Amino acid sequence: MATCLRFLFSDLLVLFLLSLTASLSSPQPLCHQDESLALMQFKDSFIIHNDTFSSCFPKAASWSVEAEHGRSDCCSSWDGVECDPHTAHVIGLDLSDSCLYGSINSNSSLFRLSHLRSLNLAFNDFNYSKIPSTIGNLSWLTSLNLSYSHVSGEVPYEISYLSKLSALDLSHNNHNLHIGSLTRLVQNLTRLKEILLSEVNISSIVPESFANLSSLRTLKLVDCGLYGEFPIRIFQLPQLQDLRISNNEDLTGQLPEFHSNTVLQALSLYNTNFSAKLPASIGNLNSLEILNIAHCNFSGSIPNSLWNLTQLTYLDLSRNSFDDLSCLTKASSNHTFPRLQFLQLSSLNLTKFPNFLQNQNKLEGLHLSESNIQGIIPKWMFNASKESLQDLVLTNNFLTGFENSQDVLRMPNLITLALDNNRLQGSFSIPLDIAPSIQFLYLSNNFFTGFENSRDVLPLPNLQMLDLQNNRLQGSLPIPPPSINTYLVRNNSFTGEVSPLFCNLSSLSVLDLSFNNLSGQLHPCFCNLSQTLKALGLQSNNISGTIPDAWAKGCSLRQIDLSHNQFQGLLPRSLANCKELGHLDVGYNKIHDTFPSWLETLTELKVFILRSNGFYGAIRDIQINCTFSNLHIIDLSDNNFSGDLPGECFQRWNAMKLFGANESQYMDYDIRFSFTLPLTLTKGIKLEYERIQHELKVIDLSCNRFEGEIPEVVGNLKGLHILNFSDNALSGHIPSSLANLTDLEILDLSQNKLFGEIPPQLSQLTFLAFFEVFNNCLTGPIPLGNQFETFPNSSFDGNPGLCGRPLSKACGDSLPIPDPTFEENQDSVSSFEFGWKVVVIGFGCGFVIGIVIGQWVIARKQDWFVNAFRIKK
Ligand SMILES: *[C@@H]1O[C@H](CO)[C@@H](O)[C@H](O)[C@H]1NC(C)=O
Ligand SMILES: *[C@@H]1O[C@H](CO)[C@@H](O)[C@H](O)[C@H]1NC(C)=O
Ligand SMILES: *[C@@H]1O[C@H](CO)[C@@H](O)[C@H](O)[C@H]1NC(C)=O
Ligand SMILES: *[C@@H]1O[C@H](CO)[C@@H](O)[C@H](O)[C@H]1NC(C)=O
Ligand SMILES: *[C@@H]1O[C@H](CO)[C@@H](O)[C@H](O)[C@H]1NC(C)=O
Ligand SMILES: *[C@@H]1O[C@H](CO)[C@@H](O)[C@H](O)[C@H]1NC(C)=O
Ligand SMILES: *[C@@H]1O[C@H](CO)[C@@H](O)[C@H](O)[C@H]1NC(C)=O
Ligand SMILES: *[C@@H]1O[C@H](CO)[C@@H](O)[C@H](O)[C@H]1NC(C)=O
Ligand SMILES: *[C@@H]1O[C@H](CO)[C@@H](O)[C@H](O)[C@H]1NC(C)=O
Ligand SMILES: *[C@@H]1O[C@H](CO)[C@@H](O)[C@H](O)[C@H]1NC(C)=O
Repeated sequence: MATCLRFLFSDLLVLFLLSLTASLSSPQPLCHQDESLALMQFKDSFIIHNDTFSSCFPKAASWSVEAEHGRSDCCSSWDGVECDPHTAHVIGLDLSDSCLYGSINSNSSLFRLSHLRSLNLAFNDFNYSKIPSTIGNLSWLTSLNLSYSHVSGEVPYEISYLSKLSALDLSHNNHNLHIGSLTRLVQNLTRLKEILLSEVNISSIVPESFANLSSLRTLKLVDCGLYGEFPIRIFQLPQLQDLRISNNEDLTGQLPEFHSNTVLQALSLYNTNFSAKLPASIGNLNSLEILNIAHCNFSGSIPNSLWNLTQLTYLDLSRNSFDDLSCLTKASSNHTFPRLQFLQLSSLNLTKFPNFLQNQNKLEGLHLSESNIQGIIPKWMFNASKESLQDLVLTNNFLTGFENSQDVLRMPNLITLALDNNRLQGSFSIPLDIAPSIQFLYLSNNFFTGFENSRDVLPLPNLQMLDLQNNRLQGSLPIPPPSINTYLVRNNSFTGEVSPLFCNLSSLSVLDLSFNNLSGQLHPCFCNLSQTLKALGLQSNNISGTIPDAWAKGCSLRQIDLSHNQFQGLLPRSLANCKELGHLDVGYNKIHDTFPSWLETLTELKVFILRSNGFYGAIRDIQINCTFSNLHIIDLSDNNFSGDLPGECFQRWNAMKLFGANESQYMDYDIRFSFTLPLTLTKGIKLEYERIQHELKVIDLSCNRFEGEIPEVVGNLKGLHILNFSDNALSGHIPSSLANLTDLEILDLSQNKLFGEIPPQLSQLTFLAFFEVFNNCLTGPIPLGNQFETFPNSSFDGNPGLCGRPLSKACGDSLPIPDPTFEENQDSVSSFEFGWKVVVIGFGCGFVIGIVIGQWVIARKQDWFVNAFRIKK
């Protein structure tokens, strides 16, 4: 008995000691080796990038099988891994934002972690691989998160096997992910509480069965291509807190009657086709914090019960069809949304500032654009929100002034002030003690006459955007602070010189001073801006002297427009350092130089205008490759170029050979900066291309002293819209290869010494609107058919040898047989139906019609237009 007891005691002691050491060295059971191996293999199947630009943190990088003292335990020491405290199986893996790059394969070791309940791989880069169907093996999964992770392809049906799933987040994969059948996917997932599929391509209706997901709390289906009627019963799900289905333009629906026990906190229907009235019972949503129903089709009156939504922090009712706004405009002065931070009531025809604004004291953003508000901006409006307001947008109204302009500016936290497109007048003076925080100031399209400030440099130390375009501002240019990025004063009456102080603006990216009356010279220090400046617009001023010539290597200029000034001297050679230059316009100056063949290294150069200067010499003689492979528009008109036309050059202008929609778009300015290129047409009609777009292709070599023949190879430049060789000394025949330029709209060969017949094939050019050959030595019959029926006599004047329509001189017996297809074409012709958008433009001299092709505009006389454009359907 005693021995027995002794043995028992010693056994207990041993057991006790064992368990003591065990609990000291490891409070939990150790991680299973097969699982740590699977994790390790999973990690090794990716590149863990750790560049300093991304904010990701490489959690898995520190995982290691060997620790300093023996084996490392994945449960206790691996970042992002969670184990069950009892079984030590891996149940959670959170590698979100962990710098993983590479594909997930269907036999990835990840799927061996069969106890996994929570998997978060959001914010990684899975290289557009598919979500493997083996995900269906992880049958314990309650939470799956692959948002922002660059997965693509069809979402595997096997996800529907995960019947314990309560949170599914596949959102924000750039529409690369699509779902075949939403109904099928969620049919077994009855425990879902959170469904986040924003920016997944669903392209279907929202299934009625969603209304059966009684645990649903969050439903986010933003921008999914949804259509059809949104099931109204979903609004009545008892747990629903967050419903966001915005940016589904074809989704229709109505709001239901809401009961007082609704727990909805966020409702966003922005940019859907929801319609009908807002129910008065919306006042029952007493937990609602976010209500965004902008850009929908709601009508009727805004119910007064809106004022019951006292928890609102965000309210956007913009752009609907409400016909009664009295709830907002007639609200008594004690109405208020006590927590409101963002309020947008744009495009609602408010006609005045609603009184309740004076009670809102937490507003951070206020947008009242396009609301037909007239008169002055009252002082009371900002009393309460003075301290909090960051974003004030009153664009597109009929505002005439301020009760006290300094009140607007004395808001210590204001970041954006947009008062553009109003009728503000007088002087905008900026006192010194004002909102130092303003970063974006939009005052364009008003009638301001002065922009005054009591210092040389604007007292806005954080200003990034200054937009004063289209006002009547006079005096010298206001000097922005060094923080400025975009400075736009186009179309004012500023005078004086461009101060050298501009040279020190080390963040300046866009500078548009066009259409003012600036004079003096550009200081050479301007080239200091090389590294940041992307667009420089000085068009139509009075600036003289030479163009600064110290553009450094790495110059980032993309657009330069110096046209219509008094610049002299040479074109600066250092521009060749601006490798991204796409648009160079120095037209209408006094530059005296030879053809700048040294620019041909600029592979982005697309628009190249030297018009009306003193350029001289032969182009052909210069030993150059003449590459300019991206050239779309070259205008050398009205200079002193001589010698033969550069046929070899034409051969290499590859971009001009491309036509139609399959052309690559190699250049895409991110700069909102429109240049105009006025090309003067015959008969005083002005052709104006606004924001020259990808497609327009022009060669204008008119008004020079070119001689010799027109090279056949011009016929290879099939993308050309405009070809003007007028007013030179060209001789020889008109090459029949021009008939291959099927997009050609303007062909001007007038005032040369061309002889022979007009090639009859030219009648194939069905887009041709202008054809000018007057003052040459052409002979024989004028081609018949198509556009040739529309050209006036004057196009052919001064060629005594020409005969046939439209000239009164007949071609005698050998009258050519009319083109048999012509009559047929006439029937199917419509002046306007050629896929272009016709717009009416109010023009100075009467009624003018313009055509917009993409973004370029041609303004011409209407009668001419109707005659000229008889284009085949
Ligand atoms: C990413 O995908 C591309 C194209 O499928 C492939 O060539 C490349 O090897 C992949 N990169 C990685 C790290 O998997
Ligand atoms: C699956 O794994 C095997 C070996 O482990 C590998 O050879 C195969 O390429 C993998 N399959 C895919 C689709 O990656
Ligand atoms: C998915 O993960 C991301 C990153 O951790 C997180 O922001 C997001 O809220 C998660 N989604 C869900 C539904 O929890
Ligand atoms: C969405 O998917 C449909 C068919 O699956 C496809 O036709 C459509 O182009 C896709 N939309 C986007 C934006 O990718
Ligand atoms: C919703 O659930 C009810 C009751 O379980 C069922 O009768 C109905 O068919 C379900 N509706 C859909 C659309 O799945
Ligand atoms: C709005 O609130 C008022 C006062 O609290 C209450 O009498 C009214 O019933 C509420 N209306 C709605 C539609 O919730
Ligand atoms: C502009 O910068 C130069 C040197 O880069 C400096 O000497 C000059 O004082 C600066 N001018 C102003 C007004 O800041
Ligand atoms: C431009 O300024 C000059 C003086 O520098 C003046 O003579 C001229 O009238 C001004 N032009 C316009 C259009 O204001
Ligand atoms: C061709 O150029 C000349 C000279 O620049 C110009 O007068 C004429 O109007 C242009 N032709 C057409 C059709 O635009
Ligand atoms: C027009 O182009 C075709 C094919 O590109 C070519 O065969 C033909 O010779 C060209 N016509 C003329 C007149 O140059």
